[in-house]
Amino acid sequence: MLLKNNTFTLKWIEDREFFDNTSRNKFIYEKLIILNKKKSMLDLGCGTGSFLRWCLSNKVFFKNVHLIDHDKALTKHIYNILKKKLNNSYKIIGNKYLNKFKLIYKDQESINILIKNNNILDYIDKLDNFDVVSFSAVSDLLSKSITRKILSNLNSEKVILFTLCFNGKIQWHPTNIHDKYISKIFIKDMQTDKGFGPALGCNFKKYLTQLIEKKYYKIESADSTWRIKSSDLRSTNFQKSFLQIVYSVMKNRNDINIDILESWYHSRLKSIQNKSSKLIVGHDDFIIKK
Ligand SMILES: C[S@@+](CC[C@H](N)C(=O)[O-])C[C@H]1O[C@@H](n2cnc3c(N)ncnc32)[C@H](O)[C@@H]1O
Repeated sequence: MLLKNNTFTLKWIEDREFFDNTSRNKFIYEKLIILNKKKSMLDLGCGTGSFLRWCLSNKVFFKNVHLIDHDKALTKHIYNILKKKLNNSYKIIGNKYLNKFKLIYKDQESINILIKNNNILDYIDKLDNFDVVSFSAVSDLLSKSITRKILSNLNSEKVILFTLCFNGKIQWHPTNIHDKYISKIFIKDMQTDKGFGPALGCNFKKYLTQLIEKKYYKIESADSTWRIKSSDLRSTNFQKSFLQIVYSVMKNRNDINIDILESWYHSRLKSIQNKSSKLIVGHDDFIIKK
C-alpha cells in the first residue's frame, strides 16, 4: 500500500474506492449540498480523484476543483477514470494531457478541473482561496503541527473536511489470540513520519477534537467504517490486500516476533480463503466550520 517516498500503489487506491464509497457518511454530501458557498473545492492528497467522483455521484457540484497530489502515477489516471465511471449525463471537454478540463453535467452544471502534482505542504498557506478544503483518507499521515496550521487557516467563509479518518479500530472475525499484538504494532508503525513529521495515525481524532475545543470551531462527525464481509470475490480480495499490507509492514520491523506474525498471517489467510473472514476498519468523517 504505502510505498517508498510516501506514495501508494494504484491498485490499492483503485480497490479501496468501492469500499470507501460504501462507507463514506452521507451527512457530508447532505451538508455540502445545502452549503451556499461552494464555488471552489481543493482536494489535497486526491489520489485518483475518488472524493470528487463521490461528490459528483451525489450531485455535489463545484465550479472549480483543484486536485492536488504529489504522485503523478496516481493523478495521471484521473481523466480516464472519470471518463470511464461518469454516466452519459456528463460531457468532458478539454485535453487530458494539460491536466485541465471541464465537466458538463446535463448542460446545467459546469465544473472546471485542474490537476497539479504538488506537495500538500505547498497549499497550507493557500487554503484561503477555496470554499471547501478536503482531506480524504489522508488524516492519519498528518502531524500535529500540520493539523494546527490547517486549522489556523479556517475562516468563516470556509469548511474543512477530513473524511475516512482511521480511528484505530481493526477487528477481524473469527478472532485470533494475536490480533491485538499485531494491531498494536501496525498502529505504532502508522505513527512514523509520512512526510509531515511524526504522523498522528489513529490519534488524529483526539488531537483534532482538542484543537477544535480550544478554538471554539464547530465540528460535526459521523461514522465511515469499512465493514467487509466475505460475500463476494471483491470483498475477499480486498481483505487479502489489507492482510498483505499489515504483513509487509510488520515484516520490515525489528520489534515483531516473526513466528507470531507468520502464524497469525497464515491463520487469517485461511479464514479469508474459506470465506469465514470479516474485517472491520474504523473510520470517521469530520466537517469543520468557524
Ligand atoms: C490513502 S491515499 C488517499 C487518496 C484519495 N484522497 C482517496 O480518498 O482515495 C493518500 C494520498 O495522499 C497522497 N499524499 C501523501 N502525502 C502527500 C504529500 N505530502 N503531498 C501530496 N500528496 C500526498 C498520496 O499520494 C495518496 O494519493
